[in-house]
Amino acid sequence: MKKRIFSGMQPTNRLQLGNYLGALKNWVKLQDEPDTECIYCVVDLHANTTGYTPDTLKQSTREVAAAYIAAGLDPKKSIIFAQSSVPAHAQLGWMLGCITPLGWLNRMTQFKDKAGKDKEKASAGLYTYPVLMAADVLLYHGTHVPVGDDQKQHVELMRDIAISFNQHIAKRDFFPLPEPLIMGEATRVMSLRDGTAKMSKSAESDMSRINLTDDADAIANKIKKAKTDAGVVPANEAEFEGRPEARNLITIYAALADMSKQQVMNEFGGQQFSAFKNALSDLTVAKMGPITSRMRELMGDVAELDRILADSSDRANAIAEPILKQTKDILGFWSPR
Ligand code: TYM
Repeated sequence: MKKRIFSGMQPTNRLQLGNYLGALKNWVKLQDEPDTECIYCVVDLHANTTGYTPDTLKQSTREVAAAYIAAGLDPKKSIIFAQSSVPAHAQLGWMLGCITPLGWLNRMTQFKDKAGKDKEKASAGLYTYPVLMAADVLLYHGTHVPVGDDQKQHVELMRDIAISFNQHIAKRDFFPLPEPLIMGEATRVMSLRDGTAKMSKSAESDMSRINLTDDADAIANKIKKAKTDAGVVPANEAEFEGRPEARNLITIYAALADMSKQQVMNEFGGQQFSAFKNALSDLTVAKMGPITSRMRELMGDVAELDRILADSSDRANAIAEPILKQTKDILGFWSPR
């Protein structure tokens, strides 16, 4: 069977290096695999789970689409579209929510992290977020989901929802069971200020992350100031013990250079961090610079971006509509035709 890849990113704040290394860079590779169809979504409905941002959402959606293309996704090969432009996502999300036990959602660690201390104030949307995410993939009969490590639990939930639907309602293998693809050296990029916290676009300190829009000076400054320890650059994985910041910087280098961590340590092990940081800074600027400037160019031609999103939305709708129709038939909904 043909592989159908589905993945997405939220248009909240600026994309950061973790989004690129943990997901986007892998998406670009998958686009050229034989017998593989790729669908990459800007998940704007998910972005609303932490509040509406009407003044900036449309532009953030375009910016994420621009980042996809600037990183190497080709709209002729991959479908690149905004989630809210395919109404079937929300429809299937509702239907799947009705067969998802609360107990399954209560286990989701991301809700606990994002809801913070006062869970009573978190939106119902944040709570049911993983159900919409299941709908995103199942709506296309997606088979593989390339994501960073933090999304693994959500992909497992989507498999459980698919199994439940297939066994108890469809009584056949209607939805394929999507597999997580957690690829490459940097499946969880950590903060530059704290090697035990994930690099995130919503973290308070801008110094904790490299944004896809940062220029060379900002990148160099952030890497120079990145937290390290009093030791030298580790020479093997055993020396990562108790040194999360050192491990993180080696991981970032490895992922950017398409090397293994050990290869990086063969080159830099035993050196001072200052020398390694200079090399990491040059590498990051060399790899991210072209993406940043291409993104800027694309954002300068909003009409062209909108044309790409509109064309892809038609292609996505054409795949999603018949699958939604079949799902509704299975569930016994009345349809006009
Ligand atoms: P989001 O927008 O938080 O992140 C997008 C992708 O980037 C990865 N990522 C990271 N990878 C490594 N290190 C990091 N520090 C890091 N930070 C983010 C995420 O794992 C993700 O792959 N729920 C998803 C969006 C989504 C989705 C989907 C994904 C909605 N529907 C359907 C796949 C399939 C999310 O919040 O991603």
